Amino acid sequence: MAYATAYDELKIKLATEAPRTWLVTGVAGFIGSNLLETLLKLNQRVVGLDNFATGYQRNLDEVQTLVTTTQWANFSFIPGDIRELVDCQRACEGIDHVLHQAALGSVPRSLADPITTNAANISGFLNMLVAARDARAKSFTYAASSSTYGDHPGLPKVEGTIGKPLSPYAVTKYVNELYADIFARCYGFDTVGLRYFNVFGPRQDPEGAYAAVIPKWTAALLSNQTVYINGDGETSRDFCYVANAVQANLLAATAQKTQARNQVYNVAVSGRTTLNALFVLLRNSLAIHGVRSDAKPVHRDFRPGDIRHSQADISKAINLLRYSPTHHIQAGIEQAMPWYIRNTQT
Ligand SMILES: NC(=O)c1ccc[n+]([C@@H]2O[C@H](COP(=O)([O-])OP(=O)(O)OC[C@H]3O[C@@H](n4cnc5c(N)ncnc54)[C@H](O)[C@@H]3O)[C@@H](O)[C@H]2O)c1
Repeated sequence: MAYATAYDELKIKLATEAPRTWLVTGVAGFIGSNLLETLLKLNQRVVGLDNFATGYQRNLDEVQTLVTTTQWANFSFIPGDIRELVDCQRACEGIDHVLHQAALGSVPRSLADPITTNAANISGFLNMLVAARDARAKSFTYAASSSTYGDHPGLPKVEGTIGKPLSPYAVTKYVNELYADIFARCYGFDTVGLRYFNVFGPRQDPEGAYAAVIPKWTAALLSNQTVYINGDGETSRDFCYVANAVQANLLAATAQKTQARNQVYNVAVSGRTTLNALFVLLRNSLAIHGVRSDAKPVHRDFRPGDIRHSQADISKAINLLRYSPTHHIQAGIEQAMPWYIRNTQT
């Protein structure tokens, strides 16, 4: 039988073979809870670890409503902190595939409190590597970041060419890659890093000072609050719908070919959308869903630590992981918008 994509083939394989056991750290967060939903729907066993630093019980509750009772019974949750080695060791027991998502995201948060970001993102990461290595996990896939491109001006971004980090957060994500590489060289422990580019979708937190742009602006438009654009609005990003990030994780975790392992990959769609264009996309999508707004954005200063332009070259993931993104920005916004509307308090 011919499959449309490698991901279609993998999903059928996972759903029909004996279930594997996956550890998702940061499972109560945005990307973690989307991984949980997909894995449970594929009848996999999932262990989740989270300390609710930025994640929510409500994300887990929502996933429970989206899967069957039998699938939900395949999930076990460990409340714990990756800064504690024993929590990581407990979570890694009997695990086939580790999807390490737990970290403190946000460039501004890291500028305000670099020590806490460092503890979770570097010490926590190292704990997870040690625990997964000692538990002989078959694969270790981790959330890296496009922030690693730092001040390198080249576009599109190609994995082998990076600049200097522009924030403490970017330093932590780059150190993750360095440690991952050392674990391969020194201990023969395989890892794959996924450099996410501005992921968005259901369950991404619209609240708080460190909210990401898409949920934050959508919530502002829904509640008639001002949308602020940092700078002239010509800053651009490669916005990546969460389904694409989930696909990349599953393909990376199960990649068999030697040359596909011990690598970092860009995870995006290779599009480039300016903040000004994003504002129009969100306003138009809301209008399609019956929420009309004639709001105009207010421009303010550029934000320190921000990269000016970001666009991924995704050919490495296409060639080595057979990654095939299913959603461009507009399709992702269309799919996510009903969730934003349902979950925004106006
Ligand atoms: N969302 C993006 O656009 C994006 C871009 C690049 C990289 N990333 C990375 O992807 C990963 C997931 O991001 P997200 O957007 O889902 O963020 P999120 O904040 O929604 O999820 C992170 C989860 O990790 C948990 N966590 C934080 N510190 C922890 C600790 N010490 N112990 C246990 N759990 C802890 C949080 O409670 C939360 O549930 C992070 O590593 C982030 O740096 C995200």
